[in-house]
Amino acid sequence: MTADEQKRISGEAAAELVEAGMVVGLGTGSTAAHFVRALAARGLAIRAVPTSEATANLARELDIPLVGLDDVKFIDLTVDGADEIGPGLSLIKGGGAALLREKLVWEASRRCVVIADAAKQVKALGRFPLPIEVVRFGHPHTGRRLADIAAEFDLPPPRLRMAERGIVVTDGGNVIYDLASGKISDPAALAGALKSVTGVVDHGLFLDLADLALIGTDGGVVNLTP
Ligand code: A5P
Repeated sequence: MTADEQKRISGEAAAELVEAGMVVGLGTGSTAAHFVRALAARGLAIRAVPTSEATANLARELDIPLVGLDDVKFIDLTVDGADEIGPGLSLIKGGGAALLREKLVWEASRRCVVIADAAKQVKALGRFPLPIEVVRFGHPHTGRRLADIAAEFDLPPPRLRMAERGIVVTDGGNVIYDLASGKISDPAALAGALKSVTGVVDHGLFLDLADLALIGTDGGVVNLTP
């Protein structure tokens, strides 16, 4: 099975968790897109809150009714991908630069399900560079403060994310610094230190948020709980 096929079966399994009448959080990325397609195919009467403009566009194409996060008191179920799934369903997210809206939607959700191909599961977080979303104003100064914090954790300085057309700007108008660490030995301590920096909006460590992981493997979908 290819990684994309593993993503597809995990997305399809997650779509089976959705019930009519639910408010559903729609994640971002290639795995979440499989979920959104499988959800649309079920034709349930639901309302959905997208975590990015890209996902909102896909949902519109598939005629999934959308509402804003401001329009609902809570979300019943959010399904989203991840860049890494570590012990206790600790996650790194934000490879697609959507981490801020994703985290806001996750935190407003009664249940959060992460979907992924098997390669995303790791023994310790950190192989995937940790995205940090930073306000654009004065970001080089914030970047230097982040480098100081990284040094305290024996990590290299984070790097500003660039694309062919220049600096990557998020849906929220911010920039991303990626912290390539190799291994994050204390995710909670790093999360706290990063959030303490003025100018940091949020980071891609999703700790104690996922209730269930559905991992696509060659042998089928494996369920993991924290
Ligand atoms: C988007 O910002 C990310 O959090 C994605 O959920 C993550 O990058 C997973 O993407 P794929 O499903 O495309 O691997």
